[in-house]
Amino acid sequence: MGQAWKWSRRRSHFPLIPLAFMVFIAATILYNELKIQRIHLQGPHNPYPKHRRNFSPVILDRFTTCNSTVKYSGRKVGWTESGRSPVARGVNACNVFSGNWVFDNSSYPLYNESDCPYMSDQLACHKHGRFDLGYQYWRWQPYRCNLKRCFIRTGSCENLMIGAAFDRDFDGTRWNVTEMWEKLRGKRLMFVGDSLNRGQWISMVCLLQSVIPAEKRSMSPNAHLTVFRAEEYNASVEFLWAPLLVDSNSDDPVNHRLSERIICPDSMRRHLSKWENADILVFNTYLWWRQGPVKLLWSSEENGVCEELDGLGAMELAMKTWAKWVDSYVDPLKKRVFFVTMSPTHLWSREWNPGSEGNCYNQNTPINLETYWGSGSDLPTMRMVQDILSQLGSKVTVLNITQLSEYRKDGHPSIYRKFWETLSPEQLANPESYSDCIHWCLPGVPDVWNQLLFHLL
Ligand SMILES: *[C@@H]1O[C@H](CO)[C@@H](O)[C@H](O)[C@H]1NC(C)=O
Ligand SMILES: *[C@@H]1O[C@H](CO)[C@@H](O)[C@H](O)[C@H]1NC(C)=O
Ligand SMILES: *[C@@H]1O[C@H](CO)[C@@H](O)[C@H](O)[C@H]1NC(C)=O
Ligand SMILES: *[C@@H]1O[C@H](CO)[C@@H](O)[C@H](O)[C@H]1NC(C)=O
Ligand SMILES: *[C@@H]1O[C@H](CO)[C@@H](O)[C@H](O)[C@H]1NC(C)=O
Ligand SMILES: *[C@@H]1O[C@H](CO)[C@@H](O)[C@H](O)[C@H]1NC(C)=O
Repeated sequence: MGQAWKWSRRRSHFPLIPLAFMVFIAATILYNELKIQRIHLQGPHNPYPKHRRNFSPVILDRFTTCNSTVKYSGRKVGWTESGRSPVARGVNACNVFSGNWVFDNSSYPLYNESDCPYMSDQLACHKHGRFDLGYQYWRWQPYRCNLKRCFIRTGSCENLMIGAAFDRDFDGTRWNVTEMWEKLRGKRLMFVGDSLNRGQWISMVCLLQSVIPAEKRSMSPNAHLTVFRAEEYNASVEFLWAPLLVDSNSDDPVNHRLSERIICPDSMRRHLSKWENADILVFNTYLWWRQGPVKLLWSSEENGVCEELDGLGAMELAMKTWAKWVDSYVDPLKKRVFFVTMSPTHLWSREWNPGSEGNCYNQNTPINLETYWGSGSDLPTMRMVQDILSQLGSKVTVLNITQLSEYRKDGHPSIYRKFWETLSPEQLANPESYSDCIHWCLPGVPDVWNQLLFHLL
């Protein structure tokens, strides 16, 4: 499938005879890979292949337990281990993710909190008592640059954007909802990931919904897959709950607060069947891997024996299973895939204000330190993600929101959101103790992520 161009790219590097041998080896690897994929990456059409009829594959749910747990065996998911060399990475002459925040209360906010009927009580900070509204008024201003990308290997350049309208600098003040809908006409845009990605999805729905008459739009009930639809554009903006990308015991959209995390590192069948027909996919995953060791229940494991691995190692396995699907099944001319990098947290104010003891509570201006980077954004994770994404070349576009969001310590709900658990008098007396410094208020930072997404679309 999409593999062909990759192999042909390697050709110029090898003389003819070794090349023939390589092609033979490659074909063998490819054949085996596809065989494996047919097992693990099955779509909805035939979830139980014939040759596995006697075997009931493990399907994780929130009641899954491990019968026993052993040390990680070192087993891989068989993607980059097949001997593939990294594809040359395009170098962005322009980086829209490098810039600064500019106070702009004439263009922002792009919508009003109370005007969006799909707003979440977790993110509606004004409604929940926040009266310093400065967080709504910041525009992201990339440093001036033109939008071309050049390839090291060939020296040739191409326009990053298709169509003249976008061959210009990103400009947050230029905002046109109708134009956004035109790009989505006849398409399914799907966000896949955790609650941060859900926030970005709600932001997108709020950005888009205002121009659609109430009787021509609909929102399905909250579920594994939740769908906002606009009839006149025959388009939908959807959210799929898949916090760990691969199948896990935390895939219930509501009941997923479990004491132990179990994943199936080599299968994402449950999620894949929902996302494989979307036209534009926006993935994220990060914070769920930061909660201690993860238990791996391989799809071929019949006795419930789990292996235990640290979060970073487990995330790498999951990312590779995902990358394998992107690599084999995504045709970038037909499907656009985005990956959103880690969303920063602001849990310790000492990181931007040495000697202080709080967190994001009561913070109402962005951090004004160029290249500020908090400890919540794990560099080894970023390197691992970058390494995997770069091997996918043009099949995936990175939405590198980490640095720009690092500056926005003022953008979190802190105490101004609905909390599901009852707060004790001790907590209430000490607001920092229960502040949410992870998610983002809306309108706010995720609106800018979506502006960048549309810019790159
Ligand atoms: C924008 O901010 C300026 C300076 O803080 C203020 O004087 C002005 O009234 C604000 N305008 C709006 C529309 O809020
Ligand atoms: C938000 O509401 C204010 C006051 O009701 C209004 O002036 C403003 O135009 C609204 N902004 C948007 C983006 O709808
Ligand atoms: C917004 O985009 C639509 C569709 O591309 C276009 O017809 C319209 O003129 C644009 N409006 C503004 C204010 O630029
Ligand atoms: C609506 O969009 C779907 C794809 O999302 C497409 O299959 C279908 O043909 C479209 N229907 C119309 C009436 O354009
Ligand atoms: C755990 O072991 C029991 C008995 O050996 C078996 O019936 C059960 O299916 C196993 N659990 C899992 C999750 O495989
Ligand atoms: C995102 O940008 C940072 C710099 O802000 C860089 O270090 C990192 O490698 C980038 N991540 C990816 C996945 O491209």
